[in-house]
Amino acid sequence: MSADANCLPGMMPHAEQYLARVETVRELARDTWAVQIRQPELAQRITPGQFFMIRPESGSDPLLGRPFALYDIYSDDNGQPTGIEFGYVVVGKLTSIMSNWQPGTRVILWGPLGNGFPVPTSKRLLCIAGGIGQTPFLAVAREALGLQTYGLPARTITRKPENVTLCYGVRSADYAAGLDDFNQPGLLVQVATDDGTAGHHGLVTDLLTEQLNAENTEVQVYCCGPEPMMKAVGDICLAANVPCWLSLETPMACGFGACFSCVTKVKISEGEWDYRRTCVEGPVFRAEQIILP
Ligand SMILES: Cc1cc2nc3c(=O)[nH]c(=O)nc-3n(C[C@H](O)[C@H](O)[C@H](O)COP(=O)(O)OP(=O)(O)OC[C@H]3O[C@@H](n4cnc5c(N)ncnc54)[C@H](O)[C@@H]3O)c2cc1C
Ligand code: FES
Repeated sequence: MSADANCLPGMMPHAEQYLARVETVRELARDTWAVQIRQPELAQRITPGQFFMIRPESGSDPLLGRPFALYDIYSDDNGQPTGIEFGYVVVGKLTSIMSNWQPGTRVILWGPLGNGFPVPTSKRLLCIAGGIGQTPFLAVAREALGLQTYGLPARTITRKPENVTLCYGVRSADYAAGLDDFNQPGLLVQVATDDGTAGHHGLVTDLLTEQLNAENTEVQVYCCGPEPMMKAVGDICLAANVPCWLSLETPMACGFGACFSCVTKVKISEGEWDYRRTCVEGPVFRAEQIILP
């Protein structure tokens, strides 16, 4: 079903609804799983930082789908995209149900949704992730490093960053998800843990500050994680005059612009603000645009 056909003004154009099947399920870390879903059309169209909504085909509890970011796409032997993979941590109703999904489970997906991260244009790209906020950065990094293209037509990188770094903060080593996946040629990964069980003992913002102290020209920062962490990252970047994009994980009901359950406060001019829907005008916003509590 196409959301284009009856799309109201301001709603997400080009999103489609698909019936699809789970292909593989694998454990990424404590309470954290990755699921591959065969859906070639969505895999061809989705870009890094975009998301989709998902729910089981059967049952009515939960009634509403839940949003998940693209982790990566996967392809057949001819390099044709055949499916999408996403990573999730178990927090509530649907994610608990999802932890019982098996290959063959039938699901309803709709997407691609949201704006996603822009194509990077600077010499250095710093991705700052907190907890499950690491999920968009596998595709971001692979695209930036020229290892995979995304979108239809494929997005082009006019200036490949000379280095791409992921600074990844988690509670403890057992929650560090997908480190093998992030082992990509050219990608530097730095881990911070609250309890010191891996990498830097402290906050991921310490790693960001270190990186910016080393060099803060020609750098772009992309960030996703818990709001207090994103606020801190945005503040550090604004103070350093470094362009920064934040990907919000606001709870959502419809995902395509109809219900206004996902609004966030944005600055529209000096001293004035308004609400914007995270699902269509986001989830990625410039740090100076949004007002986080
Ligand atoms: C654009 C976007 C991309 C996302 N990508 C991912 C991803 O890649 N991986 C991932 O694990 N999660 C992601 N999330 C968050 C994910 O959508 C929620 O974890 C999921 O909806 C929880 O569903 P549930 O039915 O298990 O929890 P529920 O039963 O609905 O809720 C359980 C608890 O979690 C809280 N909660 C639910 N959603 C959120 C949220 N978005 N932020 C903070 N608290 C919440 C509820 O208030 C409640 O306390 C993303 C969210 C957005 C908006
Ligand atoms: S989730 Fe419905 S408008 Fe954004």
